[in-house]
Amino acid sequence: MNETHFLNRRQKLFDLMDEGVAIITSALTQSRSNDTEYPYRQNSDFYYLCGLNEDNSVLVLIKTPEFTKTILFVEAYNAESALWNGARLGVDGARECFKVDEVHDNTEYIGMIKELLREHINLYIDLYSDSVSLIEAKNAAQSLHSTRGVKRHIRSIRDITYLIRTLRLIKSDDEIELIKKAIAITAEAHHSAMRECRAGMREYQLQAAMSYIFLNNGASSEAYGAIVAGGNNANTLHYVDNRDTLNDGDLVLIDAACEWELYASDITRTFPVNGKFSDAQREVYNAVLDVQLCVIEAIKPGVKRDWLQTYSEELLCDALIELGILSGERNSLIEAKEHKKYAPHGIGHWMGLDVHDPCPYVDEEGASLAFMAGMVMTIEPGLYFRIDDESVPERYRGIGIRIEDNILVTEEGYENLSAMIAKSVEEIEGMCNQ
Ligand code: GLY
Ligand code: MN
Ligand code: MN
Repeated sequence: MNETHFLNRRQKLFDLMDEGVAIITSALTQSRSNDTEYPYRQNSDFYYLCGLNEDNSVLVLIKTPEFTKTILFVEAYNAESALWNGARLGVDGARECFKVDEVHDNTEYIGMIKELLREHINLYIDLYSDSVSLIEAKNAAQSLHSTRGVKRHIRSIRDITYLIRTLRLIKSDDEIELIKKAIAITAEAHHSAMRECRAGMREYQLQAAMSYIFLNNGASSEAYGAIVAGGNNANTLHYVDNRDTLNDGDLVLIDAACEWELYASDITRTFPVNGKFSDAQREVYNAVLDVQLCVIEAIKPGVKRDWLQTYSEELLCDALIELGILSGERNSLIEAKEHKKYAPHGIGHWMGLDVHDPCPYVDEEGASLAFMAGMVMTIEPGLYFRIDDESVPERYRGIGIRIEDNILVTEEGYENLSAMIAKSVEEIEGMCNQ
């Protein structure tokens, strides 16, 4: 991404805004334990609009009937901080790097914001953030409320994230390239886990093998905490302990992926620890795979996301009937939510700068959005049969399977961006036994 991409995005955001002032703040650095911090991860909305990867920064967009203006506030260069943490861009560096109209030292932010709020009627902020800079802006708006000398009173405080995330829904070709890069590395990592897996290993050893591939290929981070779940652990949806032993005869579910230049991938594969599916495992695996393939095949512009969710639940319910786990008429079973016990999560989510991209799922009237070319969604059906669940035939107990790919909606239909990752029983067994 270069600064022109960010400039274009800001222009599109101005087009969606009414006149007013928008304030978008960088993410805070998070303390991990005394004197240590988590690796810094920028606020995706902020990054989307300016590309700066530093904390203590604020982006201010001003729109009037006559002009638009972008102001970036950054932390000034400081020799002491540079000694400990490395040099920041500083005001001059940021001015050179980013095509914004003005760059200021962040100590000028509150004074300038107070002045700006005297002249505008709409204030756009992230309504759901508790960032200090936003609280300061709201306080400034409040304190100006009954002040004389204000040229125009703030009359509305609106959410800016809805507008930004509407833009984020449709990925540009450059964004797709970054997602593809993340997926390419993740593909190598999943294949490595399949090849290296042996009974007796610990779950974290597979995680380590994958992390090595992420880091060795320059990925900026994992996109989310890896799930490496042997056997019945797969039935805990957010299992991240990853410390158990991998047992001969069990499956292992791995939901792990990396981020490339802040763009996520999100991939799940489930494979046999010993490289060979048992009959019962293969039956459930192929049932989930068939659902996944049918749902992916249905994706094309115009299809509503809600419809896809309903369709996936029908297919999963049919699979549960076919496996002998549910009996009765499909629609009544769905009505009674009987399938939810074994298939509790949704079919997928938007993916982009955030692994769960927080883009809207409904339009302004509340109707489900229809797919459009450029959207990226995960498709991740799963079936989960707990080891102690006596409603399930014994041969299926302890099996948990999810299969997850990353799908780009295209003009013609879809492109499975992660199609290169082994997925059929034959491909997986082949990879495990290489
Ligand atoms: N890895 C998180 C998810 O699949 O949604
Ligand atoms: Mn996912
Ligand atoms: Mn996932």
